[in-house]
Amino acid sequence: MKRIGILTSGGDCQGLNATIRAVAKTLYNHYGNDGIEIIGIIDGYRGLIYGEHRKMKPENFSGILTMGGTILGTSRQPFKLMRVVDENSVDKVAEMKKNYKKLGLDCLVILGGNGTQKTANLLREEGLNVVSLPKTIDNDLWGTDRTFGFQSAVDIATNVIDCIHSTATSHGRVFIVEVMGHKVGWLTLYAGIAGGADIILIPEIPYDIKSVINTIKARTASDKNFSILAVAEGTISKELASLPKKQKKAAIADMKFPSISYKIAQEIEEATGRETRVTVPGHFQRGGSPDAYDRVLSTRFGVAAAQLVIDKNYGNMVSLVNDEVVAVPLQDIAGKLKSVPKDCEVVETARKMGISFGE
Ligand code: F6P
Repeated sequence: MKRIGILTSGGDCQGLNATIRAVAKTLYNHYGNDGIEIIGIIDGYRGLIYGEHRKMKPENFSGILTMGGTILGTSRQPFKLMRVVDENSVDKVAEMKKNYKKLGLDCLVILGGNGTQKTANLLREEGLNVVSLPKTIDNDLWGTDRTFGFQSAVDIATNVIDCIHSTATSHGRVFIVEVMGHKVGWLTLYAGIAGGADIILIPEIPYDIKSVINTIKARTASDKNFSILAVAEGTISKELASLPKKQKKAAIADMKFPSISYKIAQEIEEATGRETRVTVPGHFQRGGSPDAYDRVLSTRFGVAAAQLVIDKNYGNMVSLVNDEVVAVPLQDIAGKLKSVPKDCEVVETARKMGISFGE
């Protein structure tokens, strides 16, 4: 009898359940319902550290394809604290190894983003059999062209920009839609293009507020009574970007606005006299049903990950490269961030459409 553990870690996103389902169905189909036991680890690495888990049954994986969130629960367990003993003197890495052995696992299947992949690699280095899958709305995982969750979040952020368009036009206002994405601008770039934003600001291309203001003034001068900005939550001005790391961090922490968009909004309003509003869809972008693209991608990833388990091809993350699902070694991708290359084809496309990046 095979025993496989499965966990979801870090921020949730669309497609987690679709992926879990694909892993489980492939394993049951291969080994038969009596040939494999799947152990659901509760709330990500926390469950592995503190021994919280449940035996899953085949029926637990039915009817979950379209469900948002994760049936296993999740939590954020920062990688940098993994080697730090907790307040109760718990050695987290030792406990994870102990619980893996206690459960008699042949392999642990791990669904997660950047931090999660780093810990997956750490567990691999510690001798555990792991297979991982790339999850995040941020699409910032190295080694894969796409993460599941990204496209569904693009759809939601695009819908927000679409809805804002009518209000912006009716009132002749400037609107900022602040898009998630942590330190990268993939989500903002794609939603910005899809939603027809006039200005897209992303962390990879620090902005000059004068350029942003000039674009809005030029639009007003050419009788365009509204402007829409898609602004990534991690956006940074040229001024701040030029500071040494420590000073930059301090300046960001000192910002008296709830987020960067509110600062930009105030600067636009002061310089142009135009009413400027901010909309922050926030965690909406991670919620609800995965779209059709993510359901297919999740299924492809899940099946491929199960195949790695069957083949005992451990220590890999499944990834999408040129529309092929392949396995990439965890040690090659863990800890590397995939940012938007500032002159990539998608950015160039936007520039040629007249979209400003505030450069
Ligand atoms: O990584 C996904 C993400 O939604 C980021 O885009 C965002 O910066 C972060 O998680 C928010 O984290 P939390 O859910 O912990 O507030």
